[in-house]
Amino acid sequence: MVTAITWTNAETPSIRVIDQTLLPIEERYLELQTVPELVDAIKRLVIRGAPALGVAGAYGVALAKAQSDREGWDNQTFEDAVSSIRDARPTAVNLAWGVDQVMDASALGVDAVVERAAIIAREDEEANRQLSRFGADWLLQTIGKDRLRIVTHCNTGALATAGWGTAYGIIHELHQRGAVELVYADETRPLLQGSRLTAFELMKDGIPYVIEPDGAASSTILRGLADVAMIGADRIAANGDSANKIGSVALALAAKRAKIPFLVAAPFSTVDLETPHGQDIEIEERGDDEVLSFGACRAAPKDARAFNPAFDVTPHDLIAAIVTERGVTIPNSNPEDNSPIFFAANTREESQ
Ligand code: MRU
Repeated sequence: MVTAITWTNAETPSIRVIDQTLLPIEERYLELQTVPELVDAIKRLVIRGAPALGVAGAYGVALAKAQSDREGWDNQTFEDAVSSIRDARPTAVNLAWGVDQVMDASALGVDAVVERAAIIAREDEEANRQLSRFGADWLLQTIGKDRLRIVTHCNTGALATAGWGTAYGIIHELHQRGAVELVYADETRPLLQGSRLTAFELMKDGIPYVIEPDGAASSTILRGLADVAMIGADRIAANGDSANKIGSVALALAAKRAKIPFLVAAPFSTVDLETPHGQDIEIEERGDDEVLSFGACRAAPKDARAFNPAFDVTPHDLIAAIVTERGVTIPNSNPEDNSPIFFAANTREESQ
């Protein structure tokens, strides 16, 4: 299993990440030594995926503290540096959550923050393994077939987390139980997270798969070629509305029509009880080039402009189940009812 992010106590303390913009062609690791380097890596999707961003946020505070000690920053400079990490991408709540979880340890020094961040990373992997067991049990019971055909979108595996994966973790768990017939991996905008990263992980894990264009996914579901569609999440609002990679909502709409389950899998750190409704989730908009170019080549006419939202929000009534490490939650099926849904425990557990 590839580790997306770790801390290194080298001469200059740094965050070590695998450069996800280069996979699977090249497995190159980067040592990020300063806050601007980390912020740039987050914005360019070198490190990406909501739970991995949570870990990046937590280690980012340690990085800021180390840089502050080295360069003799005042308090304001340190706080501004931390804010730049917190705000590097707006949609995945895990990034800000990871920062907030370790901030009070920063008064105790770099080692204290690193220790806290390592616990967050370890707990994320444990959460993913637990939710994968819950998800696999629920799917096999609900669908009643021995082997499943699965549509998934974006990358939700070890690369997107501290380890194991969320929706991908469920696929991995099902595979270990001999219960995967075929995975349709959507190619995914903007950087082909599906065809590069999910396919890389599926290949390494020996799970049968094909890559399909994003635009094929709803048709695959409507043609009866899939038993379930499942995704991860970047932020789950209190009413169950779930933000995830752009294109996710098309799978949910098709799944509803085809009467197959649409499942959202995420650690509880992705649940944002302070955001009541999906409409309140800020959607990251990215640069024009990702849409107007094909690889390094400009594809669109010279004056064309792009609309490039990185995420969409699936309304709670289209979601059959939300799986976290706390269990399986069935959202309210009434689109008009936006009251908070009952997750296993409606409090966020603080990492110690
Ligand atoms: O833009 P990305 O690659 O960070 O988007 C990632 C996703 O949308 C994932 O599905 C989500 O973060 C869940 S990862 C377990």
